[in-house]
Amino acid sequence: MITNDFWLDRWKDGRIGFHQEGIDPKLIEFWPTLPKNSRVLVPLCGKSNDMIWLAEQGYQVTGIELSPLAVVQFLGDNELSYETYHEGELKVHTVKELPLRIVEGDYFTFQEKNFDACYDRAAMVAMPDSKRQSYVTHTLDRLSSSAFALVISLKYDGENSGPPFSLEDSSVISLWGNQIQKIASENLVQTNPQYKERGYTFFEESVWHIQA
Ligand SMILES: C[S@@+](CC[C@H](N)C(=O)[O-])C[C@H]1O[C@@H](n2cnc3c(N)ncnc32)[C@H](O)[C@@H]1O
Repeated sequence: MITNDFWLDRWKDGRIGFHQEGIDPKLIEFWPTLPKNSRVLVPLCGKSNDMIWLAEQGYQVTGIELSPLAVVQFLGDNELSYETYHEGELKVHTVKELPLRIVEGDYFTFQEKNFDACYDRAAMVAMPDSKRQSYVTHTLDRLSSSAFALVISLKYDGENSGPPFSLEDSSVISLWGNQIQKIASENLVQTNPQYKERGYTFFEESVWHIQA
């Protein structure tokens, strides 16, 4: 079962194969130019350096992450200084050098609204079937009516024993609504030998966006 303890244990054991050292090339390719200071939500952010890239573009970035270890590693690895305050069950770490906050705690208790944009890499696909719709609904509720969203989904052959979970295109559309559009797809088996070695014949990464 994919519970909060499952993720906390993954971080304790260092089983974080999902983490990328660099910036996701799909983010750089497909993120549009939004007005400076746009508020960008990064749910289930891990210690993703994508948040640094977004903050460096001049957006006000808010990442939300359950694991205190992920938060400490993110701030430490990037040598960021920060201030922390408590907001109910959540801890908010405000970075001094960049327009960036990491909110530590369960995403489902995070209630802020009116974000101008959202970046979902390895978040929707990390959610089990039972929680996925609640995750998407909770995310859409955090966004303004004209918000932009960039979502990366995965579809692979063989057993669907995620995370990450494989999702059909029809599931992505039914989760986010008809406003979501697929803008790119890549079969990673053809471009990255690692996926073939792991036994996949098909491992498709798709980029979707919602724009007003
Ligand atoms: C697959 S990782 C992806 C992390 C990040 N998006 C990235 O691209 O590296 C999923 C992350 O979600 C976090 N997570 C899982 N459930 C959560 C929840 N309910 N609230 C906040 N974070 C959660 C996990 O601790 C983990 O770091």
